[in-house]
Amino acid sequence: MASFGPIAPHYDVLMSSVPYEMWVGYTRLLFAQHGAEPDTLLDVCCGTGTAADMFDEAGYEVAGFDLSEPMIGEARRKAKKTKRQIDYTVADAAELDLGRQFDAAYSFFDSLNYITDPKRLEMAIRQIGKHIKPDGLFVFDINTAYAFEQDMFTQEDLRQASKIRYKWVSEYDPETKIIRVQMKFWKGREVLEEVHVQRAHTVEEISTMLALAGFPEIHLYDSYTLDPPNRRSDRIHFAARKSQS
Ligand SMILES: C[S@@+](CC[C@H](N)C(=O)[O-])C[C@H]1O[C@@H](n2cnc3c(N)ncnc32)[C@H](O)[C@@H]1O
Repeated sequence: MASFGPIAPHYDVLMSSVPYEMWVGYTRLLFAQHGAEPDTLLDVCCGTGTAADMFDEAGYEVAGFDLSEPMIGEARRKAKKTKRQIDYTVADAAELDLGRQFDAAYSFFDSLNYITDPKRLEMAIRQIGKHIKPDGLFVFDINTAYAFEQDMFTQEDLRQASKIRYKWVSEYDPETKIIRVQMKFWKGREVLEEVHVQRAHTVEEISTMLALAGFPEIHLYDSYTLDPPNRRSDRIHFAARKSQS
């Protein structure tokens, strides 16, 4: 039961109440907050490309990559339909090699938590860093251990009227900081199952990885604010600046 496989064609329906517009606005606010005026953007773990579409619409030149072929398939299908010039690639962040650099990169929706092996995450951050120009920003969000302790992944929508019904049951191990989520979806008579696994990488772990990848300047924010994170932050945003050389 792979993650982001069977569910890919239904991902956008499931995410229909997710405020991507606000997330894009917040990311642009962080760009401005840190004096960045990027033209070219890399969407890291872009999924079905919803955010990439919005940045494209706002006038940026966007490319995106994701590990999941079905998710990239959806992103490409949408771009073709709307005639958007977004370059999508199937790639593992830890092995990323697109052969070009961008003014900035962003990653939405706790995608980096899905890279559960800290060594692979370190590789991923190093590879992403190689794709960002000197002085460029990498803006991304992560779920915290606090979020997992609050059981945020145990949820359901079993209303008959819903286009897709689901029931998720999660189990968090504070020792390994790993959460496993058994997901079951119903679409008409079709039943889909996926297992999602995330790790609550700490701010210290990620900051060390960023420093090793050439990001000496790191700013942290509590979920979609300009406030610093606190012990009840369930999502933390990073704005990391690559060194000038
Ligand atoms: C929660 S989804 C978010 C997708 C998209 N960023 C969004 O906001 O809708 C997480 C995404 O991370 C991708 N992903 C997980 N591990 C990855 C890796 N090692 N390299 C690239 N993408 C990865 C998954 O395939 C999935 O599309």
